[in-house]
Amino acid sequence: MSLAIGTALLSGCSDNTGSGDAEMDKFISNLMSKMSVEDKIGQLNLHSYAGFRSAEKVNTDDENIKQLMAGQMGGMYGISNVNTLRQLQDIALQTKHGIPLFFGLDIVHGHETVFPINLALSTSWNMPLIEQTARVAAIEATATGINWVYSPMVDIARDPRWGRIAEGSGEDPYLGGEIAKATVLGYQGYDAEFDSTEVMACVKHYALYGGAEAGRDYNPVLLSRQEILNGYMRPYEQAAKAGAASFMSSFNEFEGIPASANKYLLTDLLRDTYGFKGFVVSDATAVVEMVAHGIGDLQEVSARGLQAGLDMDMNSDGFVGTLKKSLEEGRVSEADIDKACRRILEAKYKLGLFQDPYKYLNPDRAAKEVFTAETRAFSRQVAQECQVLLKNNGVLPLKKDARIAVIGPLADNASEMAGTWTMSSHSGESVTILQGIKEAVSNPNNVTYAEGSWFMNDAQLESDLKYGLIGMFMPDFKPAPVHTTPKATLTAEAVAKARQADVIVACVGENAMMNGEGASRADISIPDAQVELLKALKATGKPIVLVLNTGRPLTLVWEDENMDAILNTWSQGSEAGHAIADVLFGDVNPSAKLTTTFPRVIGQLPLYYNHKNTGRPHGEFEKYVKFRSNYIDVINAPLYPFGYGLSYTTFEYGDVKLSSPEVTNGGKFTATVTVKNTGKMDGKEIVQLYIHDVVSTSTRPVKELRGFQKVDIKAGESKTVTFELSTEDLKYYDHELQYVCEPGDFEIMIGPNSRDVNTAVLTVKAQ
Ligand code: BGC
Repeated sequence: MSLAIGTALLSGCSDNTGSGDAEMDKFISNLMSKMSVEDKIGQLNLHSYAGFRSAEKVNTDDENIKQLMAGQMGGMYGISNVNTLRQLQDIALQTKHGIPLFFGLDIVHGHETVFPINLALSTSWNMPLIEQTARVAAIEATATGINWVYSPMVDIARDPRWGRIAEGSGEDPYLGGEIAKATVLGYQGYDAEFDSTEVMACVKHYALYGGAEAGRDYNPVLLSRQEILNGYMRPYEQAAKAGAASFMSSFNEFEGIPASANKYLLTDLLRDTYGFKGFVVSDATAVVEMVAHGIGDLQEVSARGLQAGLDMDMNSDGFVGTLKKSLEEGRVSEADIDKACRRILEAKYKLGLFQDPYKYLNPDRAAKEVFTAETRAFSRQVAQECQVLLKNNGVLPLKKDARIAVIGPLADNASEMAGTWTMSSHSGESVTILQGIKEAVSNPNNVTYAEGSWFMNDAQLESDLKYGLIGMFMPDFKPAPVHTTPKATLTAEAVAKARQADVIVACVGENAMMNGEGASRADISIPDAQVELLKALKATGKPIVLVLNTGRPLTLVWEDENMDAILNTWSQGSEAGHAIADVLFGDVNPSAKLTTTFPRVIGQLPLYYNHKNTGRPHGEFEKYVKFRSNYIDVINAPLYPFGYGLSYTTFEYGDVKLSSPEVTNGGKFTATVTVKNTGKMDGKEIVQLYIHDVVSTSTRPVKELRGFQKVDIKAGESKTVTFELSTEDLKYYDHELQYVCEPGDFEIMIGPNSRDVNTAVLTVKAQ
């Protein structure tokens, strides 16, 4: 489809001036003419109702259900069970105007069939594949009654201390923009209609949540407008232009104003610049949290949110509890309330809920369409493309007849495979790494297993992390210890098994609760207990393959020096063990490449490839020099750069050839490179194109990704890869915030990662 069609999807109005869809406008105007102010404000209210997969009878004593019965609820979220949802819809239809609810859920990387975490998905650089994950998630979501998914999460993050880096697409705004677009289209489809297998996307967290200072969750974002426009906003813009039905406002502040009341973000950029026509919901309790931000009481922050462009309040009861009063006091106008109400009703109309409130509530679908053999097979296929080979001294691929010791607290741990934000997953049914390996080898008796260590030496923290959510909802809950076997016993067993093996597969890293929301880390190494295990295994002298489970880049200098291979598998989802075994044994050649920079030490952070030069630049690998931009105690280079990832084969890049050394501003050009597979195995290569503006009126990054292609190249073959570009691709936001291509020389760089590129120079002439 062309994006124009996607945009047409939500050509609905955002005010009272008409949407272009006369029938819808008439229907909604007619409905609103009968609604009181309270009824309209009720549509702006959103709450959860506990339930998830369990079939239960709706409890009418629940405070949120009471609001619903009083017509004070526009939608509900957090439930994925058709029986429960049907009861809720029945109640909504019995209220004064019988306005149906829409139903949301956090479906972030798959629903019941779980795909690799989003950061892992991004390392596939495979847009059709990512789009299809969203499509499959939409089918499963709608089969369980959901018509609104809180996804895609498109926050750019340059600081791996931030736990939610796991949910996004990494540090690059161009790649992030492509992924945002693909995901929205996967959820919503290519035309204006929502059929009963398509869902509304909710793009989050708008905006800049990933820019949290020091990587501490919910922290302020202290960036300039120019910096956010160049480095962070593109994914939101692309998602809006792809026709995303809704956005979620974020927790953080920008320019001293919380995002949920930030007119520059919510109206000037999102609506007036990006052309967004849908509705904006706050993140959970983000409205009431503005009180703690210090900009007013609940009434004040609710009024400010509404006027800035926020349409729906999730969980705060700020809109439903105070807007009427604000209207009476002249703090907001009825037009402000109408505008938001109309946007919510338009979304319901476009979903088709007024025609059929039960459109998404088919009790027969879930059994046939959710967590099936097909969806699991697809999850395995996806996961095969989301494993980054960081190091290999030749030990991989493994032989299927080798004696293998599979060791580590993540080796046979089904519930840890799905990763963060998988509230509806069949987590206990994920394939473990041990299981995958046993199924792949010629004789499973050659495979031994030992848990090897606790996750971390702090037993209390280990339990708190595992049971943290339960503790949140049940204050008297006392977490049971995760591990009771003494560490020394676990290590001894692991070492004994390792000694009997030809090779060790060490499955270590972060468990799911160590990343995601509210999981910032100040030390991003593999947790202490597991490093101690690796050291004990190293002492056996056996070759070690480190299979790394993580939701963020980690500091891996010791591991890089001491392990024979490192396969970064992130969190792989439902089919983890199968997909990991596919790669370990070479049935699949790894092809993923990093979308985040891996630092050497935490003190280098933030560290990202598209940084600016200083007036005293310093070579990445140069040793310390006084009065240069460097550190006394570490080189500037990351351990693994953005775009990096190995394969079981090797690729050789030729020179970059331009269609012409000059182009007139506004014109087009091509950049071509020949890539040869010089190894013995067929492989996929992700060819990356970067630009650098040699002289510009404002400073620009040393490299900026502007294109990529994933190509299959057979062993011994060469492929010519051509990028079709125009001077549009050379633009940036200058200091006046104008989006311009400034004439002059540009370096056009192509390579296998952001470090090892070949360069040609293009001159852009003024028109
Ligand atoms: C998260 C969102 C999520 C929401 C609703 C919040 O805590 O920040 O990402 O969509 O909860 O579950």
